[in-house]
Amino acid sequence: MLKLSEKMNWLGTETAFEVLARAEALSREGRDIINLGIGQPDFKTPPHVVEAAIRALRNGHHGYTPSPGVLPLREAVARDLFRWRGVEVSPERILVVPGGKVTMFFAILMFGEPGVEIMYPNPGFPIYQSVIEFSGATAVPVPLLEECDFSFDADDVLGQITANTRLLILNSPANPTGGAVPKYQIDRLVAGLAEHPHVAVLSDEIYSRITYKGHKHVSLLTFPELADRLILLDGWSKTYAMTGWRMGYAVWPEALVEGATRLAVNCHSCVNAAAQYAGISALEGPQEPVTTMVDAFDERRRAIVNGLNALPGFRCRMPGGAFYAFPNIAGTGLDARALQSRLLEEAGVATVAGTSFGRLGEGFIRFSYANNIENIQAALERIGALLE
Ligand SMILES: Cc1ncc(COP(=O)(O)O)c(C=O)c1O
Repeated sequence: MLKLSEKMNWLGTETAFEVLARAEALSREGRDIINLGIGQPDFKTPPHVVEAAIRALRNGHHGYTPSPGVLPLREAVARDLFRWRGVEVSPERILVVPGGKVTMFFAILMFGEPGVEIMYPNPGFPIYQSVIEFSGATAVPVPLLEECDFSFDADDVLGQITANTRLLILNSPANPTGGAVPKYQIDRLVAGLAEHPHVAVLSDEIYSRITYKGHKHVSLLTFPELADRLILLDGWSKTYAMTGWRMGYAVWPEALVEGATRLAVNCHSCVNAAAQYAGISALEGPQEPVTTMVDAFDERRRAIVNGLNALPGFRCRMPGGAFYAFPNIAGTGLDARALQSRLLEEAGVATVAGTSFGRLGEGFIRFSYANNIENIQAALERIGALLE
């Protein structure tokens, strides 16, 4: 009998991967499945980025790199932060990691232990709660409400902070809701955090470049008063359709850089060298592929939200960012899991139950509109037929 660490019982998972596996199994059986479950762009990585990786391999970049990433890449990230967020950051504070997830894993492990509280968005990306509990800390949900377009209320968040709170996780634009927190709420939150200097902030801004008209991204990095306790998470996965390359980065407060680097050395040593050179090309090369992708998402966003609102028992807010719609499905009389299952098995449409994103996701289903408009329309028709 193998005896595992008790912690293994506390670690959760990301159901989207299970839905993907089931959808693929059904496809193999010959079923025609429309996948609106998976959270990755349906676009290809821009060709010039692929070429940069091939060039790097041909040029002999086959070995380990410095653990935080090659300097030209960290300098390119610093220029990018200035370009899009208007903030000057020293490359010394930038750590390149194998995907955005690694930053959240490190940040949560750095602060989490029994007796500690870590606040996280609910419904939210499931890995936050999973890793918080794995660390032994108490996961304290920050409710994101449909009636507030899935923003938080700054006063409610501040009211939940206790002497034991060490880390507050924020995510805007958000998975799974597509919610984008308005500037006035962020201003109020940052002002209130002045009263709680013991609380660090992990701002997951992986969807920062995927926002729509009227929802300009507000980065926590633009608040100098947070510089000594803000961990900014971003990366290449969503913006440049690079989920499989495993490329992410973080800006760490000066005092935490050494600890984060030590975690990286213990864990992955460094990111794939060729991918790092592709990352430079993505940031510094033409940005038209990003604009084209976001314009396509915008058209699909309106199509899917209008279509969902026309379905009996569905009610859907217009998301401000990312590529997810998160309709309220309580009117169908089914719970989220049951509806997810019937949509996949009977209508051939893969989606993810809101409960996969936390307890407060009950009554909702996540649709990823990273699929073409014809498939989105066909999925809506199939769902309409099923609900009748
Ligand atoms: C909110 C959020 N943060 C982080 C990630 C992880 O990104 P990566 O694939 O770069 O690890 C995702 C991916 O779905 C996400 O939705």
